[in-house]
Amino acid sequence: MLRLLTAGESHGPQLTVVVDGLPAGLALSARVIDRDLVRRQGGYGRGGRQQIERDRVAIVSGVRGGRTLGSPVTLVVANRDWENWRRPMQVEAAGFRPKPVRRVRPGHADLAGALKYDFDDARNVLERASARETAARVAAGGLAKRYLEQAAGIRVHSYVLGIGDVVASVPAAIERGAVERSPVRCPDPRAAAAMVAAIDSARADGDTLGGTFRVEATGVPPGLGSYRQWDTRLDGRLAQALCSIQAVKAVEIGDGIAAATLPGSRVHDEPWYDAEQHRFGHRTNRAGGVTGGITNGETVWATAFVKPISTLLRPLRSVDLATKAEVNAHYERSDICVVPAAGVVGEAMVAWVLAEALCEKFGGDSLRELRRHVAGYRARLRRR
Ligand SMILES: Cc1cc2nc3c(=O)[nH]c(=O)nc-3n(C[C@H](O)[C@H](O)[C@H](O)COP(=O)(O)O)c2cc1C
Repeated sequence: MLRLLTAGESHGPQLTVVVDGLPAGLALSARVIDRDLVRRQGGYGRGGRQQIERDRVAIVSGVRGGRTLGSPVTLVVANRDWENWRRPMQVEAAGFRPKPVRRVRPGHADLAGALKYDFDDARNVLERASARETAARVAAGGLAKRYLEQAAGIRVHSYVLGIGDVVASVPAAIERGAVERSPVRCPDPRAAAAMVAAIDSARADGDTLGGTFRVEATGVPPGLGSYRQWDTRLDGRLAQALCSIQAVKAVEIGDGIAAATLPGSRVHDEPWYDAEQHRFGHRTNRAGGVTGGITNGETVWATAFVKPISTLLRPLRSVDLATKAEVNAHYERSDICVVPAAGVVGEAMVAWVLAEALCEKFGGDSLRELRRHVAGYRARLRRR
């Protein structure tokens, strides 16, 4: 079983990730994880925090000589901004003089969290609810991606489909390099230019924008996840993982939303047998590579819908936690649009769910053992 825990406050000294259950022998280096951390910090429309942070991961347990040991892997991502927050974020009570956040921000966990945990300072809430935590998820996703690649040749990518009301037309074959070179990680250059303009215009208005991103996983074998129980179904697990990303409010598996309005004849993927490749497949992949809660051998794809950032330069109305008076919401340095970055977090979440499901099916204490299990299964599928 793979297990993941993250810890750390947005302006604390560091984010910490513990991943338990990885097999021994996985090739791992901080450099590869750093690439995704850099991608998460990018994208047109990010705010001042990204100029301060230069996210890099330190692997502090579970790896020796570039290979996992089978023991828990601990990753640390330092917060450079902590230097500016030592006093308000200090651990010890002596000399602690915080400036409480009382003007709770609409669209954030501030009010609900303060009520739940009985706080009169919403900083106690926002420090953990903040999307700074997604840096830890991306670092964990880096482990999951290496696991998927090395065990089964599975690769996970993402791209931006829409920002505000600008929607990309997606080419049949997506060139990954072009997505990464695009300022908004969008495969359609014309739409990308319109997205940049939309972000500029939102910024000028003191406003923010949301959008949609898509995650795809290629090389996924049939048989991950199960219809056995409600919580073993892979479509449900993917939706939960993607919806757990800060600001993601809806998730579509395959063509799920369009499917609700179309007749069955235009929705369901017809199976066929490819005699040359000795494999079963489907003539289309509208289901997003998952049927009955199980991967069906096609590319897994899902789309996530991101709401506009809640912190507005032109603040919305709110209430003061202490005086209960109507006030303008607290403003804390903020992004204008995070859809490109959220896509990178989405990759991490999809990679994590697939890694869990792969581990459940194939187990393996060492990478060699795991690969034998995957190869044996694939051979059995070819012999059918
Ligand atoms: C990568 C990323 C960066 C974000 N940056 C900000 C930000 O700078 N300001 C902000 O108000 N919200 C930001 N958010 C969104 C909030 O974290 C999120 O809306 C808030 O925690 C409330 O959670 P909910 O929207 O899921 O209900 C960001 C989200 C992501 C995925």
